[in-house]
Amino acid sequence: MKIETVGVVGCGLMGSGISEVAARAGYDVLVREVDERAVEQGRDRISASLERAVEREKITPEERARSEERIRYTTRLEDLADRDLVIEAIVEDLAAKNEVFSTLDRLAPGHTILATNTSSLPVTELASGVGRPDRVMGLHFFNPVPVMKLVELVRTIETSDETYATVLEFARALGKEPVTSPDASGFLVNLLLVPFVLDAIRQVERGTATIAEIDTAMVLGLGHPMGPLTLCDFVGIDTFHRISEIMYEEYREVRYAPPPLLKRMVAMGRYGRKSGKGFYDYAGDEPVPLTL
Ligand code: CAA
Ligand code: NAD
Repeated sequence: MKIETVGVVGCGLMGSGISEVAARAGYDVLVREVDERAVEQGRDRISASLERAVEREKITPEERARSEERIRYTTRLEDLADRDLVIEAIVEDLAAKNEVFSTLDRLAPGHTILATNTSSLPVTELASGVGRPDRVMGLHFFNPVPVMKLVELVRTIETSDETYATVLEFARALGKEPVTSPDASGFLVNLLLVPFVLDAIRQVERGTATIAEIDTAMVLGLGHPMGPLTLCDFVGIDTFHRISEIMYEEYREVRYAPPPLLKRMVAMGRYGRKSGKGFYDYAGDEPVPLTL
């Protein structure tokens, strides 16, 4: 089977990036968001990212225009029923994702593949709720999607060889480097990344060092592109909190437990870069670390 039409559910940080790379690779993309305002925000995000790609001479203005033409938007999930592949990229919440999957399972033709961009939910949890578990996969992209090369492909014990081969070909057509990861909460990358970031937050809580000291040390000492607290802001404090809760629930290991500070930040709406404030304040030209 060959993918020609792609549906993306959710046009936040990840859904917008996934839609962009799929359109740039020539696919016909239809994106679903919850309401018109969210559609506009998603469209603006894609437009800004394509503009950046033109400025950096990665694509020509004509390629940008063609990519934008390939992406259409809807607020109706039913409209995605004609797609060959649907990639779900909504909030990290099992019930919400299950609802999307069961609706699409009911409406879409038998050949449609349902993929999830979940960071931490085992794909089996989603596959077990639909009538086509052989056509369900994890397709885990990294933020920012247009830049990060890796994509984790996750198959469950029910995923068919044909589905796997089709999704592998799709990931390669996007210019990504696919790795096959186990269907365990956090797959490979988050299994290692999440405890590292949570430990950095615990050091802030304990007063071992400041936010800026921790980030600077990890950037200059290890050559990381971002320190762990900047990265947490970049991923989204709300998303990171949900990931941590899910992984802790799965493994019952303290290393995955959400530190109280993370919970408090979510309660206060400090969602990181996307809300303007997280471990840093993004109101000015340069991020300013917050005093906690
Ligand atoms: N969208 C598109 N392109 C972007 C971008 C964005 N949001 N941000 C940066 N870029 C591009 C730039 O155009 C630039 O491209 P060229 O080098 O080809 O010109 C390149 O990325 C570098 O950008 P900048 O020079 O502006 O900035 P930078 O050097 O500080 O890099 C970064 C920015 C790529 C985000 C870098 O800081 C980085 O790699 N950070 C770590 C990101 C990371 O770890 N991501 C994984 C998060 S975990 C995850 O995704 C999994 C999960 O489930 C939570
Ligand atoms: P986000 O908060 O930026 O965006 C989520 C979007 O989903 C919002 O725009 C919201 O309006 C929309 N949404 C919610 N319910 C919906 C529904 N039923 N139908 C359509 N849209 C709906 O979140 P994000 O960072 O893009 O994360 C999305 C998914 O990708 C999560 O599962 C997350 O764990 C995963 N992920 C995130 C990152 C990251 O760095 N942020 C990286 C890899 C994977």
